[in-house]
Amino acid sequence: MHDFKYKNNELYCESVAVKQLAEKYGTPLYVYSHKTLVDHYRKIREAFRAIKPLICFSMKANSNIALCGILVKEGAGLDIVSGGELYIALKTGVAAKRIVYASVGKTEKEIEIAIKHHIFLFNVESLPELKMIDKVAARLGRRQTVAIRINPDVRLKTHKYITTGHKENKFGVDMETARGIFMNCSRFPHLNICGVHIHIGSQIVDSGPFVKAIEKIAGFIKELEQNGVNIRWFNIGGGLGIIYSNERPQTAAEYAKAIVPILKKIKAGVILEPGRFIAGNSGILLTRVVYVKETAAKNFAIMDAGMNDLARPSLYGAYHNVLPVESASYRPSSKLRSYDIVGPICESGDFLAKGRKFIDLKQGELLAVMSAGAYGFSMSSNYNARPRPAEVMVDGKHHRLIRRRETYNDLIRNELR
Ligand code: LLP
Repeated sequence: MHDFKYKNNELYCESVAVKQLAEKYGTPLYVYSHKTLVDHYRKIREAFRAIKPLICFSMKANSNIALCGILVKEGAGLDIVSGGELYIALKTGVAAKRIVYASVGKTEKEIEIAIKHHIFLFNVESLPELKMIDKVAARLGRRQTVAIRINPDVRLKTHKYITTGHKENKFGVDMETARGIFMNCSRFPHLNICGVHIHIGSQIVDSGPFVKAIEKIAGFIKELEQNGVNIRWFNIGGGLGIIYSNERPQTAAEYAKAIVPILKKIKAGVILEPGRFIAGNSGILLTRVVYVKETAAKNFAIMDAGMNDLARPSLYGAYHNVLPVESASYRPSSKLRSYDIVGPICESGDFLAKGRKFIDLKQGELLAVMSAGAYGFSMSSNYNARPRPAEVMVDGKHHRLIRRRETYNDLIRNELR
């Protein structure tokens, strides 16, 4: 569910015609719906009302300071993976006690800054990292709370680049290693090792694997408790899938219904790290047709947005629905034709969508690439020396720029002759 809808054959974001946004702010343009964003956060909060978890929005999905700030205002904490995300998180005004920090490669410097800012929790991914956090905490004269990320080794049906909980993935430690750490906590005197973390993958549409992983870990937590190890936090990660085309993902309520009974059986407080579920359908990428090119083999709509603006189709073969901003259904006598929607970048892998049916696309026409609010802008780059797009937040009939379009000067700002 989202707030991008047609009114009189024109695509609107809430009460604003997106065509008007393209005219005012230019294209390519990321457009977000405030209402959709907040609604999705609230859906999770409501679904888990019974156990009142700490819900940390996963900033890697979208680290725009204004967008994260809206969620923080709603009560969300933030899940970070780098010193850069920590920097932005703190600028949103989030309480440091609501920041959780994952990543397999936290550097000594990043760890130090995070401890100095009194973040709540590190999700620790390896023994050497655990030793490093202990060392830095010792130096700072502090005792830092950490959770051990366990790789529960469950199989998933999602793109292989976004599964993280198989034993061959680089994330987390196996159960045996975790057991060893918990049973020997005293080896790390500057750490309060009292949490368990999992994150099994992303764009998961069926609760089955979640249930499996959570049951496995809940059993492990009970076993630890029987051995006198007190686990205060169970961080179950993110991963909830959304609708890109015809998926039927579990709703937040269905997800909660499947796992809350398991979580209620253990004493630990629960942490969630949803990213895509909250931001995914709250954003679109608005782009204009530069040329329509007809070849013997195919029709191409060459857009002003490319893989540098939205990498998901090129990188994962991901499907994003593409809609005409002015619905062509009113154009009489037109017939549907198939187009590859491609970018201007010098790579054959530069496409946004393939083989999509439209009624005669025209030069200058606007298209909306849907469900681009998560892992859209945050994965964009300057490849081909393309300034990154602007971002706009719509709230009812109001809209505001939340990131300026980059300029050519931005491209060389840090370069030295
Ligand atoms: N927590 C941890 C430890 C994670 O690694 C991730 C995502 C999340 C939470 C949030 O997952 P979500 O709720 O968004 O599924 N770029 C890929 C997705 C990569 C996800 C990486 N980790 C894509 O565009 O599909």
